[in-house]
This record gives sequence, structure tokens and C-alpha cells, in this order.
Amino acid sequence: MAAVKDDVLNALAAVSGPDGTPLPATGKLSEIVANDGKVFFSITVDAAAVRQWESVRASAERAIRALPGVTSVMVALTAERAGGAGGAGARAPERRPQTAAGAARPHAGGASAPAGIPGVAAIIAVASGKGGVGKSTVAVNLALALRDLGLKVGILDADIYGPSMPKLLAIREKPRSAGGTRLHPIMRHGIAVMSIGFLVEEETPMIWRGPMVMSALTQMLREVEWGTLDVIVVDMPPGTGDAQLTMAQQVPLKGAVIVSTPQDLALIDARRGIAMFRRVNVPVLGIVENMSTFICPHCGTRSDIFGHGGARQEAERLGVPFLGEVPLDIAIREKSDAGEPVVAAEPDGVHAQGFRAIAARVREGMAADSRPAPKIVVEA
Ligand SMILES: Nc1ncnc2c1ncn2[C@@H]1O[C@H](COP(=O)(O)OP(=O)(O)OP(=O)(O)O)[C@@H](O)[C@H]1O
Ligand SMILES: [Mg+2]
Repeated sequence: MAAVKDDVLNALAAVSGPDGTPLPATGKLSEIVANDGKVFFSITVDAAAVRQWESVRASAERAIRALPGVTSVMVALTAERAGGAGGAGARAPERRPQTAAGAARPHAGGASAPAGIPGVAAIIAVASGKGGVGKSTVAVNLALALRDLGLKVGILDADIYGPSMPKLLAIREKPRSAGGTRLHPIMRHGIAVMSIGFLVEEETPMIWRGPMVMSALTQMLREVEWGTLDVIVVDMPPGTGDAQLTMAQQVPLKGAVIVSTPQDLALIDARRGIAMFRRVNVPVLGIVENMSTFICPHCGTRSDIFGHGGARQEAERLGVPFLGEVPLDIAIREKSDAGEPVVAAEPDGVHAQGFRAIAARVREGMAADSRPAPKIVVEA
């Protein structure tokens, strides 16, 4: 039998906050998502009190894990004072984005959307259900192409399990401290770059648990001097599991770009990715078909190694925009491996043009985003 919301609340009544108040009475719990044996919620605390709350978070997880029918549980600590349900306007004013395009969209379960990053107009995720489909390649070239369109751009490598940006952008230095725990991003090709890879050694085994992923991500977003930006492109880790869902909920996302290769298996995963973003009310800006057509560098013959056009059809079927195709071309891989993505290396080349066309559609989607997403129904 799957655990339901009331069981979760009953279990939480036995867990107390640092001042002895039972958790459900603290007023700090988000909406509880209890679905298929998976339980997720967050505890919103003042940034200064995070350390005191860590043991409470752990106890809450333990208490819920002990419930019959619970297969996985994630309790995230968020160091923001969010307003009441649906109350973007109730958020502390200093936490609100300075630009109009921040995230004032209600997220799953009626909880408030996470606060925006001051000075950052929009944050978009580049994601896929399946690994290895070229998310990082698309993310970095899309960021560069958005820069070419005149936007001020940042890129955040949130792939905690396999950070790519240090390699893709040949960054070997560490970010400089900006005082306290704050960091300056690293500038490359006119874009501000932050990666979990800057903070850990390449050889370090990274066995990150969900909440640790969250705190690393929160730190990279909120404790970095991003400056004034039109958009931060987030390279997400592959998959549609709890970690991705939490990220999608905790980052004030304006929209998501889904990357897929044309074959069916990848498309099934892309569909999962789209469903996940819809579930947390993040608009899907569209699908990019990567490794679309192979053009032989010797004879110029086109061959559709993984098929062709599958993502466009899938986009039509799902009613999301099709953003464009990126061919499978050895030059794209070579430029990436050399630390200079193709849009930076060959700004007048055909691939840079293709990425700029994709970027223009992404920009349009960001501007048009006022589609009310369907509200998530919390199963209880
Ligand atoms: N269009 C393309 N043409 C040629 N090679 C490509 C293309 N897109 C990606 N690649 C190559 O495929 C490999 C995987 O790409 P990438 O790392 O961007 O995928 P990913 O989805 O981010 O992977 P992961 O799930 O591991 O994060 C890389 O070696 C990359 O250079
Ligand atoms: Mg990647």
C-alpha cells in the first residue's frame, strides 16, 4: 500500500524542529507530494538556521522511510523564506528578481515558486531523459548562440554526476572568492560560467545524495556573483528521477529545452522529461533533435544514422515547439573536445547559424511564456 499524505503528516508529528515544535506545526513545510510510494517535500528555513535544521531534515526522512509502502523519500532544506501557498507576492521583497521575467509561477502542489536570482531575468534548463544525447553540447552552444543574439548569458553546469563545462570550455582555474562563501563565475567567450566541476577535483568520487545535490545547486545559483544577466542556461543531469524533479522545483525555471536524438528509445525518455517539467508547471520551450543527420566529411553524403525527424514528430504529437535539428558532425565533437564549442570556434559556420536559429526560437518561447500550465494534482 502506498503511503498517503496523512500518514506522512502523522509520522512527521513525531519529529520536532530545533525549538521543539512538531514539524507539521512549524508552518515551514511545503505541500507534500506522496505518489506511488515516493514522498517529496521541502522545509523552508531561514538561511542562518540551516545547520540547526539539517538533523531535523534527516530525522524527517528517517521517519517517513519507516512507513509501510514508502519506496523513496526526499526532504529538501530550502534556505528561503517563501510566502504562503501560491503567494509569489508574499515573498520577501529583497529576494524577488529585479527584472520582470522572474519566476512568479506557482509550482507543484500549490507551493510558491522558488525565489528568482536578483539581476537574472530568466533561467532555462537544458534537459533530456536519456544520458549521452548531447545535452551539454547543446547547452553550451545554445548559450553562445544566445550571446550572439545580444543577450547577456550565464551557464550553470548542474550535472553533479558528470560536470562537462570545465572540459567543454577548457577551464582549469578555480573561481575566485567574492568574500564569505560567495564566488565569482568564470568568464569564457563573454559568458559567465559556473560548474560543480570547479568546486571538486575531477578524481573525487561523487556520491551525492539528493539533498546534497540540492545544496550544491542552491549554492551555485545563489552564492555566485552572476551580475545582471538576461538568461542562465542550466545543463541538467540526465534522467527524470527525484533529483531532477527536485531541481526542477527548486530552481526558478522559466522554461525547459529538451534534447533528444531521433531514435524511439531516446524519444521515450524525452517524453518522460517533458512530463516531469509539466508536472512542476515549468513550460517546455521545445525539443532539439541532436545527432540528426550525418553528413560524411569526405563525400558529403547524408545518412540518417539514428533516423531523422523523430523529434519533430514527437514535438507535434506532444504540442510543444520543435526548436531545430543539430546534425551529427565530427566537427561538433572535435571542437567540444578541444574546449572551444563550435559556435565559438566557427561563428560563421553552418552549425553556428543552426544554433542561432534554435536560440532565436528559445528566446521567442521565453518571451511568450505566459501559458498557464495545468495545476498538478497531489495524490493523497
Ligand atoms: N551533434 C553532434 N555531433 C557530433 N558529436 C556530438 C554531437 N552532440 C554531441 N556529441 C558528442 O557526443 C558525446 C556526448 O555529448 P554530451 O556530453 O553533450 O551529452 P550529454 O547528454 O550531456 O551527456 P551526459 O548525459 O553524460 O551528460 C560528446 O562526446 C559530444 O562531443
Ligand atoms: Mg552532459
